[in-house]
Amino acid sequence: MSKRIDVNNLNIYYGDFLAVEDVTVSIEPKSVTALIGPSGCGKSTFLRSLNRMHEVIPGAYCKGEVIIDGQNLYGKGVDPVAVRRQVGMVFQRPNPFPTMSIRDNVLAGVKLNNRRINKADADELVERSLTGANLWNEVKDRLDKPGSGLSGGQQQRLCIARTIAVKPDVVLMDEPCSALDPISTLAVEDLIEELKRDYTIVIVTHNMQQAARVSDRTGFFNIQGTGKPGKLVEFDDTQKIFNNPAERATEDYISGRFG
Ligand SMILES: Nc1ncnc2c1ncn2[C@@H]1O[C@H](COP(=O)(O)OP(=O)(O)OP(=O)(O)O)[C@@H](O)[C@H]1O
Ligand SMILES: [Mg+2]
Repeated sequence: MSKRIDVNNLNIYYGDFLAVEDVTVSIEPKSVTALIGPSGCGKSTFLRSLNRMHEVIPGAYCKGEVIIDGQNLYGKGVDPVAVRRQVGMVFQRPNPFPTMSIRDNVLAGVKLNNRRINKADADELVERSLTGANLWNEVKDRLDKPGSGLSGGQQQRLCIARTIAVKPDVVLMDEPCSALDPISTLAVEDLIEELKRDYTIVIVTHNMQQAARVSDRTGFFNIQGTGKPGKLVEFDDTQKIFNNPAERATEDYISGRFG
């Protein structure tokens, strides 16, 4: 299920504006990669380019390659909807469908993909996905209650359950804990640790401790100034980035001298 990602010379635009310049990087399967860097350096933009969500913004496009399992996501004839099934995404604010039951929230992605599914299979998938998202025990007695009745941390785990229910290869997370309290944050971090057994995970975070705790490798993005493109300055083992980075800018950022 888990796949490696090779990004080659990727340039990401909003109309005329080059937001992220010339990224080349390889992301190992069954690992957690953290993306860090100051606000506006293009972390979210880069993340969204990994499942073709970037181009849903009018005028937005990419040049270059993102190869997952030998296939260039930006190749001719590739269906972006199929890409988004293969590469799932969890957002900053938990966004369950509020009036939908917990159960239907988990199944929402599967149903969107037009897969017909019988009750027994659906039940099994709901239990497996919620168990995978570390939420089953907390919600198993109220699966028919609305998703909005859960705490913020539970809602975020519900969104993760919804994402993994479609059995993606890769899970992208954009600041998944920034709206959560410390306890819920730790629950989601534990979950990320477990998910990497099965998935390739890329997470954007502003929390250095979180990057250091959850990731195997870290990429530092930076920007020279307003209107300039963001660039991937350094990418290496997380230990190396946090203990002995090669670039001065990385060291300044992680030690809090700017950003
Ligand atoms: N929809 C959009 N249209 C035009 N420009 C955009 C759009 N979204 C982002 N940008 C620009 O692209 C650049 C990168 O933004 P992005 O949101 O990727 O940064 P980020 O690193 O995720 O920042 P933050 O840490 O604040 O979330 C910024 O200059 C931003 O203004
Ligand atoms: Mg962002």
